[in-house]
Amino acid sequence: MKSVIEIRNLTMKFGELMANEDVSFDIENNGIVSLIGPNGAGKTTLFNCVTGFYKPFSGKVTYWDEAGVEQDITGRPTHEICRKGITRNFQIVKTLSEMTVEQNIMTGAFLHTNKTSEARDLAEGVLRRTGLLARKDILGRNLTIAERKRVEIARALATEPRVLMLDECMAGLNQTEIKDVMNLILDLKAQGLTLLVVEHIMEAIMPISDKIVVLDSGKKIAEGPPQEIANNDEVIKAYLGEKYHAKSKKS
Ligand SMILES: Nc1ncnc2c1ncn2[C@@H]1O[C@H](COP(=O)(O)OP(=O)(O)O)[C@@H](O)[C@H]1O
Ligand SMILES: [Mg+2]
Repeated sequence: MKSVIEIRNLTMKFGELMANEDVSFDIENNGIVSLIGPNGAGKTTLFNCVTGFYKPFSGKVTYWDEAGVEQDITGRPTHEICRKGITRNFQIVKTLSEMTVEQNIMTGAFLHTNKTSEARDLAEGVLRRTGLLARKDILGRNLTIAERKRVEIARALATEPRVLMLDECMAGLNQTEIKDVMNLILDLKAQGLTLLVVEHIMEAIMPISDKIVVLDSGKKIAEGPPQEIANNDEVIKAYLGEKYHAKSKKS
């Protein structure tokens, strides 16, 4: 399948610390790629490098736009990358607490318009797609954690991305809420989006991912389809542990 983003030899240093070291992988068009690994493995750093929040020390990030035109986006400013169609959420939720759900989502829509009415129309479509329409007038500060995480996804969607990058959007949610987010991610894929997902909850990641990339201490240690990753000895040792391995083998 064709790639929308190609990451090649990406390296990011903080002083002497190699947060990403020579990482290469592709994000295929309309696929769900999951990025997993222990805390401190460099997952959020990679998001920051791809979306322009950090300028990588070395390496290259290439993007193919809707017309198939190849673009070097390495170290480009965040707003330029977002405008090209690559949007991310944040691991730490940044819901605007004194704004309503609708207004939160409209802040995303203002990437494409400076007219309030147009932003509201765009937000309404997103409210429907994300099941938040009934909550549109609730203030950010009165939302549950699951709703906040959903609003973050909705705000990102309001920028009309082709590639959506989600950093731990299931952390802190209960089983039902996790299922809801899994379904939302699958819906977004069905609507044509490409997704890069960072997540720790393997039971959620395994069934929805087309491909899993594993980072450990900044380096890529494995890449492949979910079942292959679940049975990869190095991944089990570094991250999954015997428990998940045993469980996935039984099923
Ligand atoms: N802005 C920063 N300055 C210094 N060190 C950082 C910074 N951001 C991340 N790190 C370090 O880089 C490593 C990777 O962090 P991070 O990308 O957040 O990992 P993950 O998201 O996989 O948990 C960690 O050792 C972390 O402490
Ligand atoms: Mg992180």
